[in-house]
Amino acid sequence: MKGFLASAVSGLALAGFVSGQACQTTTLTSSVPTNSSTKLALASYSYCGGTLNATAYIANVDYNKVVSLYYTNAQGQSTPLSVVNLGYSSGIGNGSWELWSTSTPIYIDGITKLLNLTYQATDVGKTYVQTLNLPVNATGGPAPTLPSPPAPYATPKGFGSDITSWLSVNIGSESETAFQRMFLNINPAIPGAAEGVVVAARSGPSYIQTNPDYEYNWVRDASLTMDVVQSLYSAATKAKAKTAYQNILFEYAAARATEQNDPGLQTGLGEPKFYLNNTIFTGPWGRPQNDGPATSAITLMEFATSYLANGGSIDTVKQKIYDSATFPASAPVMKDLLFVASNWSSPSFDLWEEEESDHFYTRMVQRRALVLGAAFATKMGDSATSATLSTAATALSATLAQFWDPNREILLYEYGPVLNGKSSYLDTAVVLGVIHGYAGDGVYSYTNDQVLLTALRLATSFIDVYAIANTTTDSAGLTLGIPIGRYPEDVYNGTGTQTNGGNPWYLCTAALAQLFYSVSTEYADAGSISLTNISKPFFDYFAPAAGLQVGQTYTYGSRKYNQAIGGLNGWGDAFLRTVKHYTPADGYLSEEYNRNTGVPQGAGDLTWSYASVLTAAFARAEVRGQKGYVRGLADLGVVGNTVA
Ligand code: NOJ
Ligand code: NOJ
Repeated sequence: MKGFLASAVSGLALAGFVSGQACQTTTLTSSVPTNSSTKLALASYSYCGGTLNATAYIANVDYNKVVSLYYTNAQGQSTPLSVVNLGYSSGIGNGSWELWSTSTPIYIDGITKLLNLTYQATDVGKTYVQTLNLPVNATGGPAPTLPSPPAPYATPKGFGSDITSWLSVNIGSESETAFQRMFLNINPAIPGAAEGVVVAARSGPSYIQTNPDYEYNWVRDASLTMDVVQSLYSAATKAKAKTAYQNILFEYAAARATEQNDPGLQTGLGEPKFYLNNTIFTGPWGRPQNDGPATSAITLMEFATSYLANGGSIDTVKQKIYDSATFPASAPVMKDLLFVASNWSSPSFDLWEEEESDHFYTRMVQRRALVLGAAFATKMGDSATSATLSTAATALSATLAQFWDPNREILLYEYGPVLNGKSSYLDTAVVLGVIHGYAGDGVYSYTNDQVLLTALRLATSFIDVYAIANTTTDSAGLTLGIPIGRYPEDVYNGTGTQTNGGNPWYLCTAALAQLFYSVSTEYADAGSISLTNISKPFFDYFAPAAGLQVGQTYTYGSRKYNQAIGGLNGWGDAFLRTVKHYTPADGYLSEEYNRNTGVPQGAGDLTWSYASVLTAAFARAEVRGQKGYVRGLADLGVVGNTVA
């Protein structure tokens, strides 16, 4: 199997001599600056075979540092993409200086000049700049060209009965296990846990595994988990179960209001994590993360909408969910929505908590919050807030087109500097952005051609990165989908960082499955499929048997339509089969499964992993027309919160 990242990756490994032609390194200085007011100095650089290499001396003034090298691209322009971040390489001498470096393929944007080096010492709030204005000449071998997607390694077709039974509403199925294990982490039976909190993963003394420490209430994880509870609430028909979900959701709303009012917030409502007693975590962390207020508001508006449809009172919704102006201690939604409306254009940390920039994921969930929020505020009789949210939604929507990169032919996960080495610009965050952030109004929907091509390039980028991608069938000979991680260059191994240490994640693999099912549903609702030049490679890979062409319309139920949808559903199940294949016998889900062995790794019993399998199962049931599926699961009811 050959993925198209291969050439970029080998380009990286070949720094030095390429095809016998010398790589020319310019050395500016080979010792640390002696002037005590100087905190940074570029040491050397080269642009070799399409890869920019640079090293710099950085004074160790605080713990968290962001070091960025700005350049002009092949057109002589400076854009949010024409910058690379350097990473820590080594300490020097007594540790008062450090060597930072990068080796990043940038041939797609190209380079003509190094503009400046900046060093943000984030803990002490200082930024240092070295102006460079150095011309850059390409040396070494020729830069690679953008590789085409590979040929598919399998052609799965249609749903698999193995996945149907794995997800069935039966005691001991994976869905039932995920359902029960997820609820153990909601209002967890951990001493001191406040009502309405979700623990990202139990890792304290009460649990077998203490590393990594995920025993916190993350705003994002909580909102995505509560979104599943909200779906269960809507679908439940058994009174006891329905009431239990309703109580949990009202407790969650109150917990969110408590967070908003914590006196220790450092970055407003984008604070990413809280202790289980629901007070703010103030240690060093990537903050703010401005997706959280959006996804929390989405979940609670969806809940409120079904609560009203079930006969709930509008006064209760105002008091316990929406009206933060009148009920600031109990109703969080209006406040979160107004925060989104005034902060969506400010850079914040991404959902992986690694980079401060403008993120596709964050924009998408913010957009959905604003669009739903404008309608919801109207329902609450609050036309002023509705107008504010609509205006922000329109302005935000106008920025989404910048995430499409015509050179890379992908939706960029962010429009700004890349983390050291994260040069593919591919990230499952884009797929998650569509899954969590599609507002149902045709803007970046599941079947958007840019979304489809990005999903193809993203998925196939992992083939050469993970050794377990070479296992393409399970013991029954059924196709395993590509194992999916956060992004191909990831170095987080679940407890720390390690070269080539990133692994596939259960929630990312499940996200691909969910996307494919939702694509199928959207085509069924539309009544036809038609392709563009952008979406064609997606169909060529995932549904080659259909042989779909650009410029034709394939009507619902026609032979080619069915072949195409069969391919998509087959791959949806193949991705879930990979999750199944690497799930241990007890059905418990960690954060990751090892890239070489498939053995679970990182936080154990990760709440979000369970939530992601359940939302994929719901999307699968929807495309299969199984109207009673969510209800069946919901009516099982919550068994209880005892620490296993
Ligand atoms: C912990 C974060 O939660 C994770 O997303 C990140 O990759 C690691 N720290 C390393 O920065
Ligand atoms: C690390 C992940 O990158 C982040 O998205 C998540 O919120 C935390 N872990 C907690 O699960």
